Amino acid sequence: MTKHERKETPMKALVKYAWEQDAVEIRERPVPTPEAGTVRVRVHTVGVCGSDIHMWHNSQSASSKGTLPVTLGHESAGIIDAIGAGVEGWNIGDRVVCETAASICGECALCLSGRYNLCPHREGYGLKRDGAMAEYLIAEPRVLHRIPAGVSFTTAAMTEPFAVAYNAVVERARVSPGNLVVIQGAGAIGILALQVAILSGAATTVILGTDVDTHRLQIARELGATHVVNISQENPAELIATLHDGFGADLVVDATGVSPALQQSMELVRPGGAIAKVGWGPQPLGFTLDPLVKKAVTLYGCYSHTWSTWENVLRLFGEGKLRTDLVLGGVYPIEEWTEAFSAMQRGDNIKSVLRMPFGLENEEVSA
Ligand SMILES: NC(=O)c1ccc[n+]([C@@H]2O[C@H](COP(=O)([O-])OP(=O)(O)OC[C@H]3O[C@@H](n4cnc5c(N)ncnc54)[C@H](O)[C@@H]3O)[C@@H](O)[C@H]2O)c1
Ligand SMILES: [Zn+2]
Ligand SMILES: [Zn+2]
Repeated sequence: MTKHERKETPMKALVKYAWEQDAVEIRERPVPTPEAGTVRVRVHTVGVCGSDIHMWHNSQSASSKGTLPVTLGHESAGIIDAIGAGVEGWNIGDRVVCETAASICGECALCLSGRYNLCPHREGYGLKRDGAMAEYLIAEPRVLHRIPAGVSFTTAAMTEPFAVAYNAVVERARVSPGNLVVIQGAGAIGILALQVAILSGAATTVILGTDVDTHRLQIARELGATHVVNISQENPAELIATLHDGFGADLVVDATGVSPALQQSMELVRPGGAIAKVGWGPQPLGFTLDPLVKKAVTLYGCYSHTWSTWENVLRLFGEGKLRTDLVLGGVYPIEEWTEAFSAMQRGDNIKSVLRMPFGLENEEVSA
């Protein structure tokens, strides 16, 4: 193992310490030492995810209960700063992002067939494993990806949510050029899915939001959405009936996080079309699913991403084909995490990112 001079000094980490509202604070934790077969990443920038905000308010879904205390965060970008025994192919100073599946069994049928995002033993950063809202993070080489030259840490820290969008729109539902795509939800996932749908050749895109999304819908327009609809004021079905052949959307992406959105997806999708359900919906449903049958709709559950998803997103970043500038609402030192989280919650920011001390010293290190 490579020694690091700051090893004995505690690091700052944003920690959830109890299953209670607001039980999140910056704590000092020991700098982790990479075991054999792992590396240590010095975190430069880390994105705030809706799931981190849920952990703050203790409104995470029952399936998101890990082991406490746990350091939050899973949208990291940084450099390798120490390497455990037996790791080959990686060097100190490599600029990397880390996938979220911190630990998988590696032996089950899902892992062996490359679908390790679905491994029942998967342990994610910021939930069951200490996450990236800290100065240092431990990672298995399996989860590392190189940040392409010229791509900033800030952009790279958005690889994970783009990978969620890419998985839903490209790997699961497969938008075809010329399609009509409706996206429900103008949060980070909806806005990124919009970009991936446009890149995939959607002829017409419609993004739906609520009153809290006025600013986000404006950004969606700047990103190329053909239509934006505030569903608190307008019924999107009327608009969609006027688009293409009037039968509805080839694909509806649910990126809302509320169960009733599925009722709307079923209304807006065309017969023979598809729904990609990315948003969770802990609320029980109170409506019939018969439109799925009557319209012969394909419903895709979309969860997480795998190695090739990350490589594709990073390649698109490298080629400048995905916009992160309009998505990024603010860069905050880790000490200002409450404002970073709150600005997303208010709808002011689509995405906030936190800078670790290392990131503040080295604004945008590029290879
Ligand atoms: N499946 C996965 O792998 C995965 C990964 C990341 C996030 N998610 C989930 O995706 C969902 C979206 O994430 P986010 O971070 O963008 O959330 P967010 O809360 O920032 O955005 C949700 C958006 O949906 C809007 N909305 C709510 N109800 C609506 C409705 N009926 N019609 C249209 N818009 C509506 C809200 O106003 C908001 O803009 C969440 O449920 C999140 O947990 C899933
Ligand atoms: Zn995330
Ligand atoms: Zn497994």
